[in-house]
Amino acid sequence: MNSQQQGVENVKRYTITTALPYANGPVHIGHLAGVYVPADIYARYLRLCGKDVVLIGGSDEHGVPITLQAKAKHMTPQQVVDHYHAIIKKSFEELGISFDIYSRTSTPLHAKTASDFFKTLYDKGCFEEKTSLQYYDEENRQFLADRYITGTCPHCGNEKAYGDQCEKCGSTLSPDELIDPKSAISGNKPVKKETKHWYLPLGQYENFLREWILKGHKDDWKTNVYGQCKSWIDQGLLPRAVTRDLDWGVKLPLPDTDGKVLYVWFDAPIGYISATKELLPDTWEKYWKDPDTKLVHFIGKDNIVFHCIIFPVMLKAEGSYILPENVPANEFLNLEGDKISTSRNWAVWLHEYLEELPGKQDVLRYVLTANAPETKDNDFTWKDYQARNNNELLAVFGNLVNRTLVLIQKYFDGKTPTPAALTEADRATLDEMRGYGQRIGASIEAYRFREALNEMMNLARLGNKYLTETEPWKIWKTDPQRVATVLHVSLQIVAHLAIVCEPFLPFTAAKLRRMLDMPAMGWKEAEKEVLVPAGHPLGEVELLFEKIEDSVIEAQMQKLADAKAKNLAAQAAAAPVKESKPLVSFDDFARMDLRVGVIKTAEKVAKTKKLLKLTVDTGIDTRTIVSGIAEYYQPEELPGRKVCVLVNLAPKDLKGIPSQGMLLLSENPDGRLLFVEPGADAVPGAEIR
Ligand code: MF3
Ligand code: ZN
Repeated sequence: MNSQQQGVENVKRYTITTALPYANGPVHIGHLAGVYVPADIYARYLRLCGKDVVLIGGSDEHGVPITLQAKAKHMTPQQVVDHYHAIIKKSFEELGISFDIYSRTSTPLHAKTASDFFKTLYDKGCFEEKTSLQYYDEENRQFLADRYITGTCPHCGNEKAYGDQCEKCGSTLSPDELIDPKSAISGNKPVKKETKHWYLPLGQYENFLREWILKGHKDDWKTNVYGQCKSWIDQGLLPRAVTRDLDWGVKLPLPDTDGKVLYVWFDAPIGYISATKELLPDTWEKYWKDPDTKLVHFIGKDNIVFHCIIFPVMLKAEGSYILPENVPANEFLNLEGDKISTSRNWAVWLHEYLEELPGKQDVLRYVLTANAPETKDNDFTWKDYQARNNNELLAVFGNLVNRTLVLIQKYFDGKTPTPAALTEADRATLDEMRGYGQRIGASIEAYRFREALNEMMNLARLGNKYLTETEPWKIWKTDPQRVATVLHVSLQIVAHLAIVCEPFLPFTAAKLRRMLDMPAMGWKEAEKEVLVPAGHPLGEVELLFEKIEDSVIEAQMQKLADAKAKNLAAQAAAAPVKESKPLVSFDDFARMDLRVGVIKTAEKVAKTKKLLKLTVDTGIDTRTIVSGIAEYYQPEELPGRKVCVLVNLAPKDLKGIPSQGMLLLSENPDGRLLFVEPGADAVPGAEIR
């Protein structure tokens, strides 16, 4: 049954998993927006609906990058993962991610669970054994995993490409494609040596996958997820090695396999099962084997194939497990227009955020949900963060709560006023209010968390509109009864918010409950009209949100700018400077007519990412030049800038625009293009020689 047929009413229990982050670095806002915040919203909502839920998380502690980092830092892999696991676990807790367990994959229980799982498939004959030639470091007597081999990228010439991918041009590689392969451990030239591995023949499961995903989940899985699955299946599924020659990982439960471990992507998803076992040693099985359980995996888009194809094939092959009902994968979150990158330190790290902006957990949760990359990649900017706090959380949500409670303090001594007769407008407002719980819930159940959040804010907007229209502060002297009614109504809206904001803003919900002296209530209660009865004394008014000043935002942006500068300097230091080109004669050089120019106008060339159309005063004339700098300069900052222009370059059409000349640019190691600028006193038309 798919989740559309299976409404929340009929599901007995939920097993909700979140991709296990690699314990080779802290968690950043990209992880949060893609996986943990939406999973937490989903889990909190279902618990409020009274559902039996387990929210599973943990650190993914195996894999080659961890061993490489350990080597580089002269630590053991266990020390590396201990360090990051602690940071990650604590920061999730502080952000209010309501894991029922946050475990890790270096535990003995996990090793046993994963190795038993492998053994079961092995005994059932599910694997193919194959011997192949792999790179081997003779000095260290070690087979070299793809990440342990570096060499020159055949596509872009980057000399530091890895055996599985080139981080400079982004191509996926295999070790055999690398030019001049070297062992990353010793720098030696590796040799090829025979080794045996076990493969999961995914192709044998093609029919199952077609039926289960392509037919069974066409309508309820997100289109990005469904599309990726379809293209994997249509391309033909190759056998996947599930073992590696490595000594960090889960050992193979087979004789004579020293130095071999399970491939990290085989053991890690089994980590969801191990964690459930650790949490519920006696009852874990019903969360994984009872068909009345709904299994949902929250992941980022780079994990789709593993969670929709490989892990389900493993579960299916094992035979006693249920399959995921849904895999609501998100796209990626960028930061200030650039891809988030751990190695380039281009990220907002959760543990640093919590330290630098204390008490602002809900602000981050709000901004990441409002901007969640649900259907396309999205951008986090600090300016947007500030605006959403000041203009939405503070000006809409906080304002409603504050106005209502302060007026009740002032006029009614902090006791819920008793309403007189309701007007038609009061009635309509209360009726509308009662519909929000259902609507928000429906959006959450459909994994549309942005929409759900917006609906939640619409409830606050309803309250503000009501107060603005009724203006109780203007009629206190003339009609205190009416004021009592109005504040009673708006207090009910605040109380409803206290319930329906909980999945998104749990810290705010707790504060609201204190302020209203209201017990925790289930989601269904939001269908009622009166949650805080007349006469009920309220608690103390607390500050829900505070204005975020420019200086706070500027400090964060400066921090990013510093990281970028530092990274650039490091790249520049590491990048080999290109060798000089062959000599040219003075005459060759003199044939080029270089002039000082001034940019007059600049605009983006439609439908291109890189091009700007400029008009440039060259002293000789004013002409059009198309330049590939749109990623590095904003059109508005350009008019008036002095540039160096090659004026006698033969004209060329770029996207249908005749470009007459070329601007001189320098290229940084990261590919960034910067103007070569003439001195401040240089005048248009001056020759450059
Ligand atoms: N560590 C992986 C990543 O960050 C995710 C592992 S998810 C699991 O991409 F299912 F394998 F646990
Ligand atoms: Zn490359």
